[in-house]
Amino acid sequence: MTGRDEYYNRAKQEGYRARSAYKLKQLDETAGLLGQGRTVLDLGAAPGGWLQVAAERVGTDGVVIGVDRQRIDDLEDPDPRVELIRGDMTDDATRDEVRDVVGADGDERPVDVVISDMAPNMTGEYDLDHARSVHLARQAFEVATDVLATGGDVAVKVFDGQDLEDLEADIDAEFEYVRQVRPKASRDSSSELYLVAKGFLTAPVREGDQLEVDIEDVGSEGDGIAKVDGYTLFVSGTGTGDTVEVRVDDVKPNYGFAQPLQ
Ligand SMILES: C[S@@+](CC[C@H](N)C(=O)[O-])C[C@H]1O[C@@H](n2cnc3c(N)ncnc32)[C@H](O)[C@@H]1O
Repeated sequence: MTGRDEYYNRAKQEGYRARSAYKLKQLDETAGLLGQGRTVLDLGAAPGGWLQVAAERVGTDGVVIGVDRQRIDDLEDPDPRVELIRGDMTDDATRDEVRDVVGADGDERPVDVVISDMAPNMTGEYDLDHARSVHLARQAFEVATDVLATGGDVAVKVFDGQDLEDLEADIDAEFEYVRQVRPKASRDSSSELYLVAKGFLTAPVREGDQLEVDIEDVGSEGDGIAKVDGYTLFVSGTGTGDTVEVRVDDVKPNYGFAQPLQ
């Protein structure tokens, strides 16, 4: 394989450091990840094709933080703030540095989107390469759960295989939804795909939870409003002053819906 395909040539012509720049463009076009002003954490960022695309798309008000265990050359004339960290994401020290640089601390969650193109060194042994890529994807997912703002998004590369389903289910539990995206710019022969999860949930409840709530108010649609640690739950068929046992049936980043149990 020479690598000199359509995307390789386009990257050369258009000044991108890697053909993978087009994968991020396609992921963004499919899933809407990189708006103006967003703060983006790019894991496995060397040589910097994704960084270039992210910097273009977040614009002057955006922030892009790139991490790789390999050296990344500075971007030329980046408009947004760009920070580069050299380190291995499987090391605690690197993950701590990332949290520090992005300014994540407890309730401080400044990152809007985490993108990870991290890939293991390939051995050619399918199961081993798959297992290592799942491990890297989990590191990305774990950091994402520490730094992402409520409603934030992730796109994480992983090689297809037997542990994909479990990884996807674990991510799904923390986001509004997750789906698999295979960008056209991925090589046909590749087993890579991206898990794209939208709407990071910091809510104190999850779908299926049962709890007792006090209805404090009634919303414009006529549903009762309860607060759970500051999170708004709309409860149908209830009124101000009611105390009811409810089942949560839909959780969105900033509010959720529940039904009375009886
Ligand atoms: C496919 S390349 C990324 C290409 C990049 N998205 C671009 O557009 O230029 C995968 C990168 O993941 C990095 N990587 C793999 N394992 C890593 C780890 N544990 N920590 C940090 N970076 C890692 C590699 O060094 C490599 O640069």
